[in-house]
Amino acid sequence: MKITIIGTGYVGLVTGACLAELGNDVFCLDVDQSKVDILNNGGIPIHEPGLEDVVARNRAAGRLQFSTDIAASVAHGEIQFIAVGTPPDEDGSADLQYVLAAARNIGRYMDGFKVVVDKSTVPVGTADRVTAAIADELAKRGKSGAGFSVVSNPEFLKEGAAVEDFMRPDRIVIGHDQTPEGQRAYALMKKLYAPFNRNHERTFWMDVRSAEFTKYAANAMLATRISFMNELANLADKVGADIEAVRHGIGSDPRIGHSFLYAGCGYGGSCFPKDVQALERTARDYDQDLLILRAVEQVNDFQKHVLGKKVVKRFGDDLSGKRFAIWGLAFKPNTDDMREASSRVLVDELVRRGATVSVYDPVAMKEAERVLKLDFADDAKLFERISFAANPMAALEGADALAIVTEWKAFRSPDFDRVKAALKNPVIFDGRNLFEPQVMADSGIEYYGIGRSILTRGQ
Ligand code: NAI
Repeated sequence: MKITIIGTGYVGLVTGACLAELGNDVFCLDVDQSKVDILNNGGIPIHEPGLEDVVARNRAAGRLQFSTDIAASVAHGEIQFIAVGTPPDEDGSADLQYVLAAARNIGRYMDGFKVVVDKSTVPVGTADRVTAAIADELAKRGKSGAGFSVVSNPEFLKEGAAVEDFMRPDRIVIGHDQTPEGQRAYALMKKLYAPFNRNHERTFWMDVRSAEFTKYAANAMLATRISFMNELANLADKVGADIEAVRHGIGSDPRIGHSFLYAGCGYGGSCFPKDVQALERTARDYDQDLLILRAVEQVNDFQKHVLGKKVVKRFGDDLSGKRFAIWGLAFKPNTDDMREASSRVLVDELVRRGATVSVYDPVAMKEAERVLKLDFADDAKLFERISFAANPMAALEGADALAIVTEWKAFRSPDFDRVKAALKNPVIFDGRNLFEPQVMADSGIEYYGIGRSILTRGQ
């Protein structure tokens, strides 16, 4: 089938490459010329395991092309996926300017029936706005009769496992309407996704609004689980319980399950923070206060400061002359995505209190440098207090303590003798509970985890 993907970021690039892998003829559009150049020169602009191979293979086979040519992109695909960003607006609502710009472009150039797929995460009711934007452009061209249908097909892939998630989805959610155009869209989407449903049906067909809502409900639920465990972890620190023991104790109940029960130093990324905010905002638009989500957000804001608070408690308010190593900058492992990463909050706190920091991440170094420079745009001198280490051990040299923010596999079993030898003080602040407090105590390391004070010193 001929497919167009509008927006070649994390979601668009994975969607385009994977649909090409299934034999479709895919045209990827982006307005960012530099991204398109990288892709046309055989590179990929993001770090995503396995993606580079899929892109290279399908480009070579002539099934995947990248361009900034809007007219050509609209002409290409009978199915047009909108996969552009939906960042938070100032009031927390999803900023739909990119989605609506993409919609208008479709209306401006389309000739013949199109299925327009909202793949971006968009608030309930957005399909109606996309429909209106396209219809408006068609009317300007005197082509009001041209057929199209907008469907909602939210994406559930996880960065770091995106190719695998896309190729082996646990569910595909598609919302369409019951008009004749909606039925035609249903038939085309069914055909497109047929390869994913061979062994058993994974597609949940529903109305458009429910599909839009499902994406927010999923992310809100996951964020809630994280904040719930983080809040309990902070209490565990006070009452002298071990949150890891509690996690095992409750996760074994199948009604609760083990996933997403990890206490840590807060969630980040391009989705949870903005989607929680956007759903709260939608609720307010309908005169409802989503109390739970307000709390989820507050807990997460607090939790991003937890490591900083532990450092201050141990080393004092004034950190001038102190140096801290930080392992892990990306918002989670296996990605270079720094959006809303907890590391940014910790770096900010340490540096503004006078410390210097030496940071290391297995893949996010370049992106971290770019993002941290922007974070300290108000005071470039503060940015100079950050050094970017070549490897984890180099980051430790001369540091007073180590803080771990991202749970990369590479950090899970370091040579603790070398760690101790490199640090001025054998102190580790572990924001992801990677290590066992008893092992740390036996190694002579002063260890601060999250919600494990009963097993560690002085939290
Ligand atoms: P991104 O920021 O990585 O990529 C968006 C791309 O769209 C950029 O390359 C931008 O240049 C391009 N773009 C903007 N306006 C355009 C236009 N009018 N025409 C063509 N290209 C345009 O965003 P990402 O992370 O891929 O997210 C996209 C959507 O998918 C968002 O709504 C997000 O919430 C959702 N989502 C993201 C997931 C993730 O893990 N990143 C997972 C599931 C959903």
